[in-house]
Amino acid sequence: MPTAPLPASPDPTAGPSHVAIIMDGNGRWAKARGLPRVAGHRRGADAVRRVVRGAGELKIPMLTLFAFSTENWTRPADEVSDLMGLLRHYLRSEIEELHRNGARLRVIGNRGGLADDIVRDIADAEQRTHANARLDVNICINYGARDEILQATRVLARKVAAGDLPAEAIDEQRFERELLTAGMPDPDLVIRTSGEQRISNFLLWQCAYAELVFVDTLWPDFGKEHLEQAIAEFRRRERRYGGVG
Ligand code: FPP
Repeated sequence: MPTAPLPASPDPTAGPSHVAIIMDGNGRWAKARGLPRVAGHRRGADAVRRVVRGAGELKIPMLTLFAFSTENWTRPADEVSDLMGLLRHYLRSEIEELHRNGARLRVIGNRGGLADDIVRDIADAEQRTHANARLDVNICINYGARDEILQATRVLARKVAAGDLPAEAIDEQRFERELLTAGMPDPDLVIRTSGEQRISNFLLWQCAYAELVFVDTLWPDFGKEHLEQAIAEFRRRERRYGGVG
């Protein structure tokens, strides 16, 4: 028996309301040109700007980008440092344009592992844009879905152990309230670039019914037209949520 009402019948012209993207292929983009990996990440940051602008123009209400995973710390120290530098730069340099365009920026991930100045920049960016409502932009930094689910489980387990929450009261809605995405709609469409076909510990709970679209384009080459193509593919899909359509 489903614990929540099933979503309404699929409408081929509707949505997606929430697009999430696994940005992949920066390293290969750079390698193909004989450049250091950081050059691919820099061009990847340019693609982020293009796609955020494109999402606004296409009137997508929510865009979530996977920028740095809990597993990315295992990369060479100089690459981690380059990526953190790009994120720091993005948070400082883009916030005005995001704000002017009515975007609300939120960062999803474990802030405990981030440098203090980045944590401050995140708080400033979120605070500055919190009242905007035209486009939600979520950036996943130091994010891992298993880690997120374990944290939520621990919080609930402590409440149960303390006698503050009956175990039977933990349903999907209650569980979601402890996730880092509490209050956000689930992604309807997940795009992964670069030809890889994996979910890589990204929003595992939230993507339960997402449509997955894998594209060969490397992230630094991705733009608004690729986003439109992925959305067209999404609209051709019939979403059944386990029913029969
Ligand atoms: C995957 O490509 C990409 C990343 C791990 C980082 C994504 C970061 C950016 C796009 C730049 C900064 C982000 C923002 C929001 C400004 P890869 O390095 O794994 O590529 P490969 O598989 O070809 O080696």
